[in-house]
Amino acid sequence: MSLLFSKAQLGPLTLQNHLVIAPMTRSRATNNVPNDLMVEYYVQRGSAGLIVTEGTSPSPNGLGYPRIPGIFSEAQVAGWKKITDAVHARGAKIFVQLMHTGRITHPLNLPQGGEVVAPSAVAAAGQMYTDAEGMKDFVTPRAMSEAGIKHAVAEFAQAAKNAVAAGFDGIELHAANGYLLEQFIRPNSNKRTDKYGGSIENRARFVLEVVAATCAAIGKDRVGIRLSPFGVFNDMPEYPEMAADYTYLARALNETGLMYVHLVDHSAMGAPPVPDEIKVLYRKTFKRTLILSGGYDAARAETDLTAGKADLIAVGRPFLANPDLIERWKEGAAENAPDMATFYTPGPKGYTDYPALSG
Ligand SMILES: Cc1cc2nc3c(=O)[nH]c(=O)nc-3n(C[C@H](O)[C@H](O)[C@H](O)COP(=O)(O)O)c2cc1C
Repeated sequence: MSLLFSKAQLGPLTLQNHLVIAPMTRSRATNNVPNDLMVEYYVQRGSAGLIVTEGTSPSPNGLGYPRIPGIFSEAQVAGWKKITDAVHARGAKIFVQLMHTGRITHPLNLPQGGEVVAPSAVAAAGQMYTDAEGMKDFVTPRAMSEAGIKHAVAEFAQAAKNAVAAGFDGIELHAANGYLLEQFIRPNSNKRTDKYGGSIENRARFVLEVVAATCAAIGKDRVGIRLSPFGVFNDMPEYPEMAADYTYLARALNETGLMYVHLVDHSAMGAPPVPDEIKVLYRKTFKRTLILSGGYDAARAETDLTAGKADLIAVGRPFLANPDLIERWKEGAAENAPDMATFYTPGPKGYTDYPALSG
C-alpha cells in the first residue's frame, strides 16, 4: 500500500492521506466574502488530507487582487464557516492561508479605506490586473511606521482567532511569492533603517513577530508558514545572501515551535530551480512537519515521501482541474487539464465544472 494514500499526522491532527491542496487564489469571492459557489468548489475537493485555502487577507489593506476573500469581517467569518463545515463533513482538514499582499496591489482593487502599504516606499516593477481598468502599473506603497507594523501584527493575530471561530483547523502564513511578509525578508523591497531593516535578523523580525502573535493567539499546533527561498515572483530578484538568509529563517522558525513549514518550488512553472540543498537544510533544521510542493505527480510524491524528503506533499494545478484527484491517482486514471484562461475569472466556469470520474 502506498504511503501517499495512508493516514498522516499533522501535530494533533490526523489527515486522511498525505496529500495537501496547495493554496490557490481563484478570485470568485465577490465583495471579498466567501460564498456558496466557493463552498461547492472546496467540498468537491474534500478527499484531500489537508486543504490550504486560497490566499485570504487579514486586513482591508491586503486585498490586493480582485475578488479575493478576507477574514477580518463578520460576514467573511460566516462565509468561511459554511466552507469549513462542509469540508469537514468530507473528512478533510482545512487551514486558511493568510495572505497580505502589501505592495502587490492597486488602489483600484482595495476596498474603501484600504491602503497600499509595504516595508519601504519602493514600487514593484510591472503591472497588475484590476476589474475596473484592466492592467495598471504597480504604485509606490506607503512605508509602514512602527505603529503600522504593530497594527499589521495585530491584524494577523485577530485573523488567526477569526479563523478558529470560522471552524478552520489552523492558518498558513503566506511568507512566499513576493507578498507583504516576504517583502520584509527581501532586501530589494525592504530598505528600512530601523530594527525591521538591514541585517537578516532585522528583516526577519516582522515575520517572526507575526508567527509569535498568531501562535500566542491560537496555539503553535495551528500555525504553519509558506516560504519561497530562491523565488523571484513579484519582482523579488536573487541576491548573494539568499541562502544565508533562508538558513537563518529555518533556524529561527524552528525555535518558534510552529506546526509546519511549506516550501514553494515553481520551477515546473518556468521559475528558476530551487536548490536541493535548501530543501535538505529545511528538512534537517526544522523539526516539525515539512511540506514540499511544485510539479508533483503521484509517482514523484510517493518517491519523496518514501525517501523522507517531506512529511506531506502539496499539489496545486492537478487538484484545481481534478476535484477527485485522489481517486484518479489511486486508479492511475487520466486527468483533466487545467484551463489557465479561467483561473481567476468570476463564476462557475473553470471552477466547479471540472468533471469527476464518477460524475
Ligand atoms: C491559479 C493559481 C493560484 C495560486 N494562488 C496561490 C496563492 O494564493 N497562494 C500561494 O501561496 N500560492 C498560490 N499558487 C501557487 C500554488 O500554491 C503552487 O505552489 C503552484 O501551483 C505549484 O504547484 P503545482 O505544480 O502542483 O501546481 C497559485 C497557483 C495557481 C495555479
